[in-house]
Amino acid sequence: MNPQDALSILPAQPPLRVDLGDRGYDIHIGEGLLADAGRLMRPLLRQRRLVVVTDANIGPLYLPTLETSLDDAGIAHAAVVLPAGEQTKSFRHLEGLCERLLALRLERGTVLVALGGGVIGDLAGFAAGILLRGIDFVQIPTTLLAQVDSAVGGKTGINSRSGKNLVGLFHQPRVVIADVDTLDTLDIRQLRAGYAEVVKYGLIGDAPFFAWLETNGPALLAGDAQARIEAVRVSCRAKAAIVAADEREAGVRALLNFGHTFAHALEVETGYGDRLLHGEAVAVGMVLAFDLAVRLGHCDGKDAVRVRRHLESVGLPTDLRFLAATPAERLPERLVEHMQADKKVVDGRLTFILPRRIGDAFIDRSVPVHAVRGVLADALSP
Ligand SMILES: NC(=O)c1ccc[n+]([C@@H]2O[C@H](COP(=O)([O-])OP(=O)(O)OC[C@H]3O[C@@H](n4cnc5c(N)ncnc54)[C@H](O)[C@@H]3O)[C@@H](O)[C@H]2O)c1
Ligand SMILES: [Zn+2]
Repeated sequence: MNPQDALSILPAQPPLRVDLGDRGYDIHIGEGLLADAGRLMRPLLRQRRLVVVTDANIGPLYLPTLETSLDDAGIAHAAVVLPAGEQTKSFRHLEGLCERLLALRLERGTVLVALGGGVIGDLAGFAAGILLRGIDFVQIPTTLLAQVDSAVGGKTGINSRSGKNLVGLFHQPRVVIADVDTLDTLDIRQLRAGYAEVVKYGLIGDAPFFAWLETNGPALLAGDAQARIEAVRVSCRAKAAIVAADEREAGVRALLNFGHTFAHALEVETGYGDRLLHGEAVAVGMVLAFDLAVRLGHCDGKDAVRVRRHLESVGLPTDLRFLAATPAERLPERLVEHMQADKKVVDGRLTFILPRRIGDAFIDRSVPVHAVRGVLADALSP
């Protein structure tokens, strides 16, 4: 759909704002925005020149539209296309990217544009943060996960042999342009994985939004653009508010890790591969977090049932069946060990984001290990 058609159906909504003073920025969400990206970016450019970083899946699909919009706006451009996949968030690819960008005679006023999912956004954002001691960058997220989560908030980085996302910095983009049309070509499994992060916003702070998702989630996943715009908007609004209150995760930003302590342990166990995507791990992790909260007496079992039912109904995993091929010996203990090795452990106590009810979560820094082991053992028993 071209932007004019979109405008004739829906009055264009004003962009959301991430309130970070002079580092604040807009988030544009809508249909047909890729074709309009040049016009949206132009006022922010100190130099009519930018470099687009993308991956080999996304480039052929969306680079031509973006390039046309840059031509139309009179912006000179070059592109760097990297291999797709999590392996690209590495020191090796960071080095290659920086060298290629410098060879293009990058200047302080040149802007980097990350066109892609979280992998490209994290890597290109990090490169922008360190090249010439920091240049501006723009996020054009093309996965649901990136549109509702990774493109907003300024966390950038790469993986190291010791773990995921351990090398990076905070570097906020100048603008985020989320075109929901790009989700049409996304694999349904990737789309569902991103949807788990959408559900997360409802569970941690917005019960009416969770109820809205129970009704509209299936349409969103089936391709309804208005449902997508609404869900991305509500999610970004929630993330923007949390980031504005706590940019560097000294406190409330930790709520965004809801479901993630379990999720990271499951990802370590399954090797961060295709067997379990991050968002799928988060879906299971959120269900387990509800189970843990029920066990500790914080939350009613009925809420846990409702959450499990919704995630299941859209085809997300909610149990540990995917671990069937994994040696069962000491599995709960192993998963707890993965959690203890995680960077979120302070003084040996496990920190969890736990629900009091749907739409109300809190940070609990002293969850007893035996309760966690108990939840895992129950989840693993046939
Ligand atoms: N910075 C943050 O705050 C933050 C938050 C959450 C996750 N992350 C990071 O994000 C990464 C995961 O991001 P992701 O889930 O977007 O994965 P991704 O970037 O690997 O994209 C998933 C796959 O979809 C393809 N793809 C992307 N857009 C497409 C489209 N529109 N059409 C067809 N194919 C498309 C990609 O080429 C890739 O193969 C992880 O590295 C994670 O650590 C960062
Ligand atoms: Zn996540």
